[in-house]
Amino acid sequence: MSRTDMDELFGRKWALITGASSGFGADFARQLAARGANLVLTARTESKLRALGEELSRKHGIEHRVIAQDLSAPGGALALSDSALALGIEIEHVINNAGFGQGGAFVDASAERSAEMVRLNCEALTVITARLLPPMVSRDRGGFLQVASVAGFQPTPFISVYGATKAYVVSFTAGLAEELRGSRVRMCALCPGPVETGFQAAAGVQIAPAQRASVLTSEETVRRGLEAYARGQVVYVPGVVNKFGGLAAKVLPRMVTARAAAGVMKDRGRG
Ligand SMILES: NC(=O)c1ccc[n+]([C@@H]2O[C@H](COP(=O)([O-])OP(=O)(O)OC[C@H]3O[C@@H](n4cnc5c(N)ncnc54)[C@H](OP(=O)(O)O)[C@@H]3O)[C@@H](O)[C@H]2O)c1
Repeated sequence: MSRTDMDELFGRKWALITGASSGFGADFARQLAARGANLVLTARTESKLRALGEELSRKHGIEHRVIAQDLSAPGGALALSDSALALGIEIEHVINNAGFGQGGAFVDASAERSAEMVRLNCEALTVITARLLPPMVSRDRGGFLQVASVAGFQPTPFISVYGATKAYVVSFTAGLAEELRGSRVRMCALCPGPVETGFQAAAGVQIAPAQRASVLTSEETVRRGLEAYARGQVVYVPGVVNKFGGLAAKVLPRMVTARAAAGVMKDRGRG
């Protein structure tokens, strides 16, 4: 898609971004604002959202709204969706990006933290999609860019719950894309490999030295993700090495990829 077409797709349209206070979410906000999109920014840390929204409005002359919401709290995603609908604006694009992982052996993890992760990474993304998709279908335009991960293609020992939540996101998104075949509503799962953001500190993991050469920046990942979304791609993996990993996960037996991932994750996580 040309630059003009991308500007046409996003310019003066409203985009809602979850997890907009840091990492990919803040880069989605920066890149969409640069294309003229108005933004609804959400995460828990209101001060960061306000600072980012004001900076981008000043720089690009866009409008923005801020909704501070904990999406892993029971009912949090319904509350966010209702607040977004109550703004009285047409939300054209949704970047369902908020998420976290937790490294280490599952046996040592707290049940509460695992449940919180499933609520944020799966339930909140599903509820937001359920609430904000119908108006897009009625208008026959718009779409969702769901942030999954290469971790969604295979078992991920020592970060097992996280990988399972991302497998849900890939499968859910591909299923909906098929349901929407023939409509102009986009449904794209972005599946990055490891990228330096706040993710590593939150998950208690590190990027392995062997992976560093193939690591993309957050900015580059988001740029490629938006281009894939604009092209109408359903499942997109940025980066050659990540693509190769995704392909290997498709052709190799599940327990072979699980063993290989365990070798990498045991050193990267707390476990
Ligand atoms: N970085 C990677 O290596 C990598 C690779 C593949 C996929 N991903 C995925 O990319 C997405 C973005 O992560 P990131 O790498 O940008 O990490 P990040 O810098 O830690 O950003 C996570 C974002 O989610 C928000 N968030 C966390 N818990 C929340 C909650 N309970 N309610 C609402 N918002 C919450 C955070 O804001 P507040 O703390 O202010 O709420 C923050 O804005 C995640 O879905 C992650 O799984 C990351």
